[in-house]
Amino acid sequence: MLNVKRIGYGAMQLAGPGVYGPPADPENARTVLRKAVELGVDHVDTSDFYGPHVVNELIREALHPYPEHLTIVTKVGYRRTPDKAWLPAHSAEELRAAVHDNLRNLGVERLDVVNLRVPGRDSGSLEEPFTALAELREQGLIRDLGLSNAGPEQLARALSIAPVVCVQNQYNVADRQDEDTLAETVEKGISYVPFFPLGGFTPVRSRVLDEVAETHGATSRQVALAWLLHRAPNVLLIPGTSSVRHLEENLASGDLHLSAADLTLLDTTG
Ligand SMILES: NC(=O)c1ccc[n+]([C@@H]2O[C@H](COP(=O)([O-])OP(=O)(O)OC[C@H]3O[C@@H](n4cnc5c(N)ncnc54)[C@H](OP(=O)(O)O)[C@@H]3O)[C@@H](O)[C@H]2O)c1
Repeated sequence: MLNVKRIGYGAMQLAGPGVYGPPADPENARTVLRKAVELGVDHVDTSDFYGPHVVNELIREALHPYPEHLTIVTKVGYRRTPDKAWLPAHSAEELRAAVHDNLRNLGVERLDVVNLRVPGRDSGSLEEPFTALAELREQGLIRDLGLSNAGPEQLARALSIAPVVCVQNQYNVADRQDEDTLAETVEKGISYVPFFPLGGFTPVRSRVLDEVAETHGATSRQVALAWLLHRAPNVLLIPGTSSVRHLEENLASGDLHLSAADLTLLDTTG
C-alpha cells in the first residue's frame, strides 16, 4: 500500500498538447503544482515520458527541495518519438536509462515509487522488465515498485519477483472494465490508482452524474471522484488539472458522502 492521502494529483496533462513539449504557460503549471502541495497533496503522479522530461522538470522547478511527506510516483516502460508516438521501452538497458533520467530530472537520489507501464493485460511477459526494476530497487535507486496497465495475472507474476505497492489502471465511473484487477488489489492489500479518473481526454458525463451532483450541491466531476473513493478503501485518486479552481474542486470531493441510493443509481445507470 502507498502511505498517502486518498486524493493526490496527476501531472500528465501539464505538458503541451499530446503530452508532448512544454505547456503554453509553464508558470501556471508550476503554480498549480505549488498550490496542490500547499493544499495538502502528498502524492504526485508523473513520468519522464510526459513531455518527454518536461513534466518532471516542472515538478522539480516548482517543488524542489521536496517536502518530506511528498511521494512522487513515476513510471517507466515507454519512450516518446518526435511524432508524439508512445513506444514500449522494456529492455533492461532502456529501463535503467529511464530510472536515471527520472532521478536526474526530478533531482533526487532515490525514486519513491516506479510503476512499470506495460502495453496491456495481454501483452505477454513482464518477467524481464520487472526483474530489471527489482534489481535497481535492490541497488537503492527505487523505494517501491508498482505496475500500470496490468491485469491480475501480470500482478501475480510481478509479486513473485518483488513487492508491488500500487497498480495504476484505467478505471472510472463510466469505464469499469478493470473490476477484476481492482478486486485483486483489494484482496492483496495493494493500492489501486485509477488513471483517467475523470475520463481523461474524454471527460465523464451523464445525466445521472448531474442529478446526483445537484442533490449534493456538487459538480458532476466531484461525484465521479467521490464514486471512486466509495468504490473500495484502497483506491487513491490522481485527477489531473491545469486549473487551481479545478484542483480545489477535486480535493473537496473527498468531503462528499454519497448515499446508498446515490451509489445504486450510479451503478445501475453509470
Ligand atoms: N498509467 C498510465 O498509463 C496513465 C495514463 C493516463 C494518465 N495517467 C495518470 O493519471 C492522471 C490523471 O489522468 P488525466 O489527467 O489524463 O485525466 P483525468 O484526471 O481523468 O481528467 C483530466 C481532465 O479533466 C479536466 N478536469 C480536471 N478536474 C476538473 C474539474 N474539477 N472540472 C472539470 N474538468 C476537470 C482537466 O482539464 P483542466 O486542466 O481544464 O482542469 C483534464 O482535461 C494523469 O495526470 C497521469 O498522471 C496515467
